[in-house]
Amino acid sequence: MSLATRYLGLELAHPIVAAASPLTATLDGMRRLEDAGAAAVVMASLYEEQIRAEDTAYALYTEQGSNSQPEATSYFPDLPDYDSGVSGHVETLQHASAALDIPVIASLNGTTSEGWIGHARALEQAGAAAIELNIYSIPIDLEVSGAEVERRYVDIVREVRSSVRIPIAVKLPPYFSSPSHMAVELARAGADGLVLFNRFYAPDIDLATLRVTRSLPLSTAAELPLSLLWIALLSRRLACSIGASRGVETEVEVVKYLLAGADVVMTASALLRHGPEHVATMREGLERWLAANGFDSVDAIRGLKDATHVEHFDALFRAQYVASLSEYVPGKLV
Ligand SMILES: Cc1cc2nc3c(=O)[nH]c(=O)nc-3n(C[C@H](O)[C@H](O)[C@H](O)COP(=O)(O)O)c2cc1C
Repeated sequence: MSLATRYLGLELAHPIVAAASPLTATLDGMRRLEDAGAAAVVMASLYEEQIRAEDTAYALYTEQGSNSQPEATSYFPDLPDYDSGVSGHVETLQHASAALDIPVIASLNGTTSEGWIGHARALEQAGAAAIELNIYSIPIDLEVSGAEVERRYVDIVREVRSSVRIPIAVKLPPYFSSPSHMAVELARAGADGLVLFNRFYAPDIDLATLRVTRSLPLSTAAELPLSLLWIALLSRRLACSIGASRGVETEVEVVKYLLAGADVVMTASALLRHGPEHVATMREGLERWLAANGFDSVDAIRGLKDATHVEHFDALFRAQYVASLSEYVPGKLV
């Protein structure tokens, strides 16, 4: 039985990767994940806000820029589990890259196209096997078009591509008008892989106190279908790696993402909920499922259920949507 897979040109023993989270913020945390059997880890992000807070020249530049929101820096909380200094972050990455046998993928998390991108080089020099870019921006400006938002993503990828030699992955939101076109543009700009999809913090309102509440609940498998759909649609048509993200609770979701065509399956919430050792449970479950269903490798199932064999997928998809709606006959279903 071979669980081996390839992601961003990296040879991995199996497809289960620990996504960026507080578990991957420290050397100890990453070591625990390696001991638990993770195939690779994505270190918790180095945030644009951390860089901005430390880099005087960058702060001066951004505070004078038209898109600047200097006060936003003060919103950034102290994260107790994160090493909030840039040099501390880079040092942790350096130690982890040297100490671990599995690849350590660094993560840069930002939104503007300013100074933070330059830190990709420092992450490469610290020994990162690859860089995951999490471009987390909420486009609220009434004058900024979708095309402009997309151009920023592509520019960021192009700039990082020109500054490092290691592979780059981009963790995407699902909210583009044309996720397919965006994916291909990012690959053309130099992304070696795409991670589908990022999750977003969404505030709520507490009606008892009328306060806006902050929450980012851990995911459940109910979040899987959106990523599953787009991976099935894109995986075989793109000349880049695909990492699946969101809603991986057990080996069930791992198998589904592989069937849709993912090269690796990333998990954060389940590991936060059950502990790093849950990686081993998922890996054993994957192996059991493959054996029980007569497959001898992960390669044998990858993409078996992608959407490329379906002609006129859009028409079929629409027809199934309409058919599904018609199943809801009032009085018959609860
Ligand atoms: C507490 C917490 C911290 C996270 N920190 C990061 C981070 O530093 N960088 C990042 O790109 N994603 C971060 N994420 C997002 C996860 O890496 C992952 O993409 C997301 O949670 C979806 O996967 P899941 O459904 O398995 O949780 C974080 C998620 C959680 C719940």
